[in-house]
Amino acid sequence: MLSLYIHIPFCVKNCPYCSFSVVQNPNNEMIQTYLNNLHSEIDQRWKVFWKAEIRTIYFGWWTPNLIWAEEIKKLIYHCEKVFNCENVGELSFECNPFPQDQIYEFVSQLQKSFKKYPRVRFSFGIQSLDNWVLENAWRPYTFPGMVDFLRWLRDLKLENSVYNFDFMAFGVFNQTKKWDLQLWTPSALEFFQDFVNSWFADSFSLYMLELFEHQKWKKNPEWNSSVIQQYGLFWNEDEIYEEFDILKNIIQEWWYKRYEISNFAAVGKSSIHNRVYREMEDYLWLWLAASSFINAKSQYFWDIIEYLKKVDSSLNPEWQNGIRWTNTPYFPKYIWNEKLGESAIQPLSHSDYLIESFFLSLRTDRWIGDISKFKSVLVEDYTEKIKLYEENGFLKLRENGFVLSDEWMDCYNGIITELLKEI
Ligand SMILES: C[S@@+](CC[C@H](N)C(=O)[O-])C[C@H]1O[C@@H](n2cnc3c(N)ncnc32)[C@H](O)[C@@H]1O
Ligand code: SF4
Repeated sequence: MLSLYIHIPFCVKNCPYCSFSVVQNPNNEMIQTYLNNLHSEIDQRWKVFWKAEIRTIYFGWWTPNLIWAEEIKKLIYHCEKVFNCENVGELSFECNPFPQDQIYEFVSQLQKSFKKYPRVRFSFGIQSLDNWVLENAWRPYTFPGMVDFLRWLRDLKLENSVYNFDFMAFGVFNQTKKWDLQLWTPSALEFFQDFVNSWFADSFSLYMLELFEHQKWKKNPEWNSSVIQQYGLFWNEDEIYEEFDILKNIIQEWWYKRYEISNFAAVGKSSIHNRVYREMEDYLWLWLAASSFINAKSQYFWDIIEYLKKVDSSLNPEWQNGIRWTNTPYFPKYIWNEKLGESAIQPLSHSDYLIESFFLSLRTDRWIGDISKFKSVLVEDYTEKIKLYEENGFLKLRENGFVLSDEWMDCYNGIITELLKEI
C-alpha cells in the first residue's frame, strides 16, 4: 500500500521560532497555482500508480486560515478518484488552534465528509501554556483562550476522530516570589495535568526547541539579549531538557506510550503516517523537493520500472533496495510546474538503504535493536564511540543495540555523522 503526504507551505505569519521553510501570507494567485499544481501532480502520479491502494493521506505544515476545508476536500476527492482509497486507514491534518470558530468549522466539515474512514486525525499546535512564550511566539491566544478552545473541542469529537496535541519545550521558567523556578504558572500546569489525565487527547507530540541560523529568534541578537537579560534562562539547553522532562513525565504517568522520540500515544492511537515513514514503507510526497520512496519488495516498485521502460527502453536499472526521487528543488519551478520528471529517480543501494534505516530507527521506539545489522556502513571503531556516548549520558545500551537518551538533541546529528562511514 502507498501513503500520500500532501504539503501546504503557506502560513499567515512566519512564526519566529519555526524551523520549517514556509511562505508567509501568499496572494490568492500563488495559492491557486499551487493547488492546481498539487492536482496536476496527483494526475501525474496516477499514470504510474494507477489504482494503487492508499494507506494514509497526510496534510502537513501550513496554517489552515489560508486554505480551508473546501480545497482540502477537493484534493482528497481527487485522490479517491484516481487511486484506490477503499482501505485508507488514516486521514491526517496538521492545524493551528486559531481562529477558533473557523478551526471548529474546519474540523467538523472534514470529520463529516470523511466519516467512512476508520480514523480522521487532527494535530493541533498548542505549543505552550505560558502567556509570555505565546506572546513572543506570536501565537494569537493565551492560556485561558486555550482552555476555552479545548473545552469546546470536546463536543466536536466523533467516534473515529483522533486528536493529537503538539507542545514544545521552550526552556522558559518563571520565578516565584520565593525565587523558585516554576514552569508556566501553577494553574496552567495543573490544567495540563488534568487535561492529560482526562484522556481526551489521543496522543501528544512533544518537541524541544531547536533554533537554526535562518530563524527570526536566532537572527535578532538585540531581542535575544533583552530576553536573556529579562529571564536569564532562555535557550539554555538544560532548561529545555528540564521542561521536556516535566511534560514528558506527566504524559507518561497517564499511560501514553512513547513510540517515537517526540511522540506519545494512547494504545492504538499512534500516527500510522509516522510509522510508514520511519519503517520505510512506500510513500509519495507531493510538494516541492518532496522525496518519495518505494521499497524494492513492493509491487509498486515493479509498476514504476514497467512505466520507466515504456518511457526509456534502454533503461536497465540494478536497483537493489528501493528508489527515491525528488520532484523539484525550487519553489518557483514547482509553482510553474517545471518538475524534474522521472529522470530524477535515484536507486538506493544496500548501503544507502541501511544508512537511511539507521537514522530513521534512531527516532523510533524500536531504536537500534541490533547494531551488527548496520556494521557495513559504520566506522571501524563504532563500539568505542557508542561507549563514549553512553558515558556522556547521550544513549543507553540495550542488549545488542542502544536507545537515545532525552539529551538526544545535543547528539543526534553527531551520532549520525560520527558513526556512519559515508556521511
Ligand atoms: C510542521 S509544524 C507546524 C504545525 C502548525 N502549523 C502549527 O504551527 O501548530 C509541526 C510542529 O513542529 C514543532 N516545531 C516548529 N518549530 C520548531 C522548532 N524550532 N523546534 C522544535 N519544534 C518545532 C511545533 O510543535 C509544530 O506544531
Ligand atoms: S509554526 Fe506552524 S504556523 Fe508557524 S510558521 Fe511554522 S508551520 Fe507556520
